[in-house]
Amino acid sequence: MAAGGVAMLLVAASTSLTAWLMKPAVDDVLAAGDTTMMWVVGLGLPGAFALKGISNYMQRASMLYAGLGMVATARARLFRHLMALDLAFFQRHPTGDLTSRLIIDLDTLRSTITSTGIALGRDVATLVSLITTLLVMDWRLSLVGLMIFPVLVLPVAALGRRARRRATDLQETLGHYDALLHQAFEGVRVVKIFGTPERERTRLHGVVLRLFGAMVQVERIKILSAFLIELASGIAVALVVLYGGHRVIDGTTTAGTFFAFITALILAYRPIKKLGHMSAVLQEGVAVLDRLFAILDTRPELREAPDARPLAVSDGAIRLEDVRVSHAETTRSALDGITLDIPAGQTVALVGPSGAGKTTVLNLVARLRDPSAGRVCIDGQDIRGATLESLWRHVALVTQDVTLFEGTVLENILFGAPDAVDPRAPSAEERARAETAARNADAHAFIAALPEGYDTQIGESGLRLSGGQRQRIAIARAMVKDAPILLLDEATAALDRETERRVQTALERLGRGRTTLVVAHRLATVRHADRICVLEAGRIVEEGDHDSLLARGGLYARLWAGQGGA
Ligand SMILES: Nc1ncnc2c1ncn2[C@@H]1O[C@H](COP(=O)(O)OP(=O)(O)OP(=O)(O)O)[C@@H](O)[C@H]1O
Ligand SMILES: [Mg+2]
Repeated sequence: MAAGGVAMLLVAASTSLTAWLMKPAVDDVLAAGDTTMMWVVGLGLPGAFALKGISNYMQRASMLYAGLGMVATARARLFRHLMALDLAFFQRHPTGDLTSRLIIDLDTLRSTITSTGIALGRDVATLVSLITTLLVMDWRLSLVGLMIFPVLVLPVAALGRRARRRATDLQETLGHYDALLHQAFEGVRVVKIFGTPERERTRLHGVVLRLFGAMVQVERIKILSAFLIELASGIAVALVVLYGGHRVIDGTTTAGTFFAFITALILAYRPIKKLGHMSAVLQEGVAVLDRLFAILDTRPELREAPDARPLAVSDGAIRLEDVRVSHAETTRSALDGITLDIPAGQTVALVGPSGAGKTTVLNLVARLRDPSAGRVCIDGQDIRGATLESLWRHVALVTQDVTLFEGTVLENILFGAPDAVDPRAPSAEERARAETAARNADAHAFIAALPEGYDTQIGESGLRLSGGQRQRIAIARAMVKDAPILLLDEATAALDRETERRVQTALERLGRGRTTLVVAHRLATVRHADRICVLEAGRIVEEGDHDSLLARGGLYARLWAGQGGA
């Protein structure tokens, strides 16, 4: 930065030097025929240009370094911040919008920082130096030449404000564009089969047109402010020629001063124009910063208590006390007073119609969401008083929609290993552990058949695997984690009966000695659970083991009969 500052001053000084040298060039060399001066000027000019070029380079390089460094820090910081936000935030914001902020917004910020950061200091310094040069050479002429510029301040500032509004529009439209692309690519199968490529194209076309309009608006403002400055410069030069010419003819000033003056004025044109242009670019940067700060200012609704302590898990007993959950967007509550005791080491199954609130219960236990009323305790401690890290360390989760990550099968399984140092370079012991888990999840056979076995890249979200294969990798991941609390949400739903039975046995083995909360639609998979809770519309309507629930002849018995009694 310091070197950048020195370089900036050198650029300013060398630019003014170029203008200064015009005076002896005209007065001493051309008018008086002084050959020594001819050499001085002849060598001085390339010297001044070389100095300007070198210091320009140094200044750009140091500013770029600083600017890009800032953007890199911002990227990391934003990502960290986003990852700390809760589930509700991600359900509210489309992924495309968020990625566009991390990619497009930060890139706009980068170009703002590098272009204005580089130019701002240098152009201001150059301008100050040139104006000083002008004033020293002939202050009367300077006042005449420069008087047009203060008039420009107001319109250029007004344009800048407009630029900022337009830039905000532009960023938002870019977000829509990104979200749309994301959706179309991710859902490519649905889009094709449902015959909607045409509709997606039309939608995209609409956004592209809006994008076009917004970009034109932004650029038009830049062009307009450039035009204003150009016009003002023309007027300034005209005034100088008229008044200065008059003074040269009068004999009050020399032709050399006149030429040096015009040179300095022409040299000043560029920084002035850039500064005018910059006001628009800067406004664009400010618009982006506004959007980024809006994210940085979002606090997670779900927060650690200031005095949060690590959760002391002895055996993982779970207790839900009259918990209620209502989503802001809906009037009906997702959970309407659930009380549930899961003694340590037991397996409790949650069954019931779709939308009954089963996944919501799991989300509460894992504290991915807080209840609107009531509390959730693990081993007698309210989980809201525990650090999130300590809670999550003790919980393994298989979600309803399996998430796999870009990377190898092995990495995806070891993702769950609590003490994996570097999942990209696993030790032999970790490999063995992953393989055992995969065997238990009945995944070993198909993994071994992949082109590179455990080291096969499964690509974005595991798209190269079948639904059942993905699910078994997720189960292996949960097994590797070896946590005292196990949450399974439809973990075997995508498997055929035969595989399901094998995985089921493994899960039962895994669940031994752990507190397990398992959600299932296929009742046969949970008939051996210690207790089965039947949920309907956010309430527990029946509770008991398989046989007693059948004997009751209620909702469970009906569901069971509906599944063919097996
Ligand atoms: N983010 C959300 N915003 C608003 N409502 C939600 C949200 N998430 C879930 N719900 C609602 O909460 C209720 C319970 O949802 P939940 O996902 O717990 O059901 P579920 O029993 O797991 O159903 P399924 O068997 O289909 O998975 C549903 O009515 C659902 O519409
Ligand atoms: Mg669910």
